[in-house]
Amino acid sequence: MKKIVILTGAGISAESGLGTFRAEGGLWAQHRIEDVATPEGFARDPKLVVDFYNARRAQAAEATANAGHRALADLESKFYGEVVVITQNVDDLHERAGSRKVMHMHGSLTSALCAACDHRWEAPLVMAPGDACPSCGAPAARPDIVWFGEMPYEMDEIFEHLATADIFASIGTSGNVYPAAGFVAEARRAGARTIEFNLERSDVGSQFDEIVLGSASETLPKWVDQLLADQT
Ligand code: OAD
Repeated sequence: MKKIVILTGAGISAESGLGTFRAEGGLWAQHRIEDVATPEGFARDPKLVVDFYNARRAQAAEATANAGHRALADLESKFYGEVVVITQNVDDLHERAGSRKVMHMHGSLTSALCAACDHRWEAPLVMAPGDACPSCGAPAARPDIVWFGEMPYEMDEIFEHLATADIFASIGTSGNVYPAAGFVAEARRAGARTIEFNLERSDVGSQFDEIVLGSASETLPKWVDQLLADQT
């Protein structure tokens, strides 16, 4: 059975109206990473951090999946082998498009995490600093987001998928942030064919067998159609 492992980044949600991080005027031009995306920033000013993710949760809730997300869901449901989506995105647009096997390595806006006991629950649309954990009662709720300096989620399972991939596709990610930027090398070592989808070649673009330039909502439906046609 063939396996397609797909890594997505902010670029796939850009056409749903969610801003990317490193574009001119992107999220990291408007906010300092140290302030809103590190454990130290949260310790210093929890309200600033919780409000930042409240705003992103509200924006994601308003957004709708685009043709790129839908193409990947279509691939998963019609491909004879296995399709795994590993996303760095904290929105839930893959799930809302219909993808079922989605791994959120950088966490999820729809989830809250107790910093005291690690319990997880569905995040309310608006979180407040010091919200109580429904399990242990500690006033230690935080967004369930992996911040810089923290370990991404599900890494063991992700590396197992990369080691058994036949095709590895990276979509809409700048190749700036490890460990995700290292996945292409891992998949190559395993003998996978590697392909990048982006508006421009990413920082790790030279490591791919093939690069498809263009917006994900246009390039992905064509790629998926071809893959599905080739298997019949
Ligand atoms: P970036 O903002 O670094 O990169 C977005 C990429 O998407 C760029 O390479 C763009 O060229 C590309 N892109 C933009 N629009 C596109 C479109 N319509 N179709 C295809 N590609 C498009 O975002 P990420 O690579 O996702 O982590 O960032 C990685 C991580 O850094 C994020 O998960 C986040 C951030 O700091 C944390 O917060 C922990």
